Amino acid sequence: MKAVRIHQYGGREVLSLDEIPVPDIAPDEVLVRVVAASINPVDWKVRAGYLAQMMPHRMPLTLGWDVSGVVAAVGSQVTQWQVGDAVYSRPDLARNGTYAEFVAIRPGECARKPRTISHVEAASLPLAGITAWEAMMDTARVRAGQRVLVHAGSGGVGSLAIQLVKAAGATVAATASGRNRALVESLGVDQFVDYTTTTLLHAVEPVDAVFDTIGGEVQEASWSLLKPGGIQVSIISPPDEARAAAMGVRGGFVFIGPNAPVLDKLAGMVDGGRLRPIVGAEFALEDIAQAHALSESGRAVGKIVLYVGKP
Ligand SMILES: NC(=O)c1ccc[n+]([C@@H]2O[C@H](COP(=O)([O-])OP(=O)(O)OC[C@H]3O[C@@H](n4cnc5c(N)ncnc54)[C@H](OP(=O)(O)O)[C@@H]3O)[C@@H](O)[C@H]2O)c1
Repeated sequence: MKAVRIHQYGGREVLSLDEIPVPDIAPDEVLVRVVAASINPVDWKVRAGYLAQMMPHRMPLTLGWDVSGVVAAVGSQVTQWQVGDAVYSRPDLARNGTYAEFVAIRPGECARKPRTISHVEAASLPLAGITAWEAMMDTARVRAGQRVLVHAGSGGVGSLAIQLVKAAGATVAATASGRNRALVESLGVDQFVDYTTTTLLHAVEPVDAVFDTIGGEVQEASWSLLKPGGIQVSIISPPDEARAAAMGVRGGFVFIGPNAPVLDKLAGMVDGGRLRPIVGAEFALEDIAQAHALSESGRAVGKIVLYVGKP
């Protein structure tokens, strides 16, 4: 089968389209035939070796930790999946990933693919959707009547977070540059903030929760936007707890893992018409270097999907 692997950490030149055997599955694994995978910033962060201290990977390593596809084989101990089931997953980041024609996954990391969308759209959801859910629903515990600020509302995570927060009944402001205004407004935001022309402090009314998807100065500038008791949840770096406490607010940090129960919830929302995946670009497996370049540019709109094979 074809797989995009790295044999060493490095720049985009280390991405290698290799011909390798279809993985053997253990009794407690399923083999998924990949229809589509998606790109997340963590893919090129792993490729570059930025996570090597935290998570040493064995080389060669197949990148990619989002998939939508069809179960092609099940191990002898697997009871919940059958050959032919359409599934989607954000599998374990410590193992070989999904930029390949087949991937071996633990059955508990798979969920039924949403029925009403394509595999390309479904592949765009798991990692970014779990992240948005864990940050906004589980950590910030956003509820009806609250006000929330989502940074990078046009990005993979932000475009889903806006929709989750709106579905919970909250009012949402979101940042992006002006060229993404129409997209972000189409997701239902109550206030669009062009971060290239606006000072946050002057533009945004106090909020109950901030979703920090950028870090650094953006996280820093967001503390003063919180109401007393409010929370800033970051997916970039753990907020300074002492600083938060001194201001009478809270900080939270999320680093996600596989979470099939949340994938079931997201699938229900998609099939119920309450969540819409945003796929901004689609590439073939062979064009992986271009796909990484777009993600690394910081200018991607919605999600970048890799089309791997026929449904
Ligand atoms: N901790 C975790 O578990 C976890 C999980 C998922 C992602 N992450 C991290 O979260 C970050 C976001 O991920 P993602 O997939 O959403 O990224 P992404 O899709 O690549 O984000 C791109 C978007 O960010 C916007 N943007 C860039 N700079 C901005 C700024 N200063 N203010 C507002 N918007 C800005 C861009 O809009 P414009 O072009 O309009 O500027 C673009 O649409 C990444 O660093 C990723 O590694 C962490």
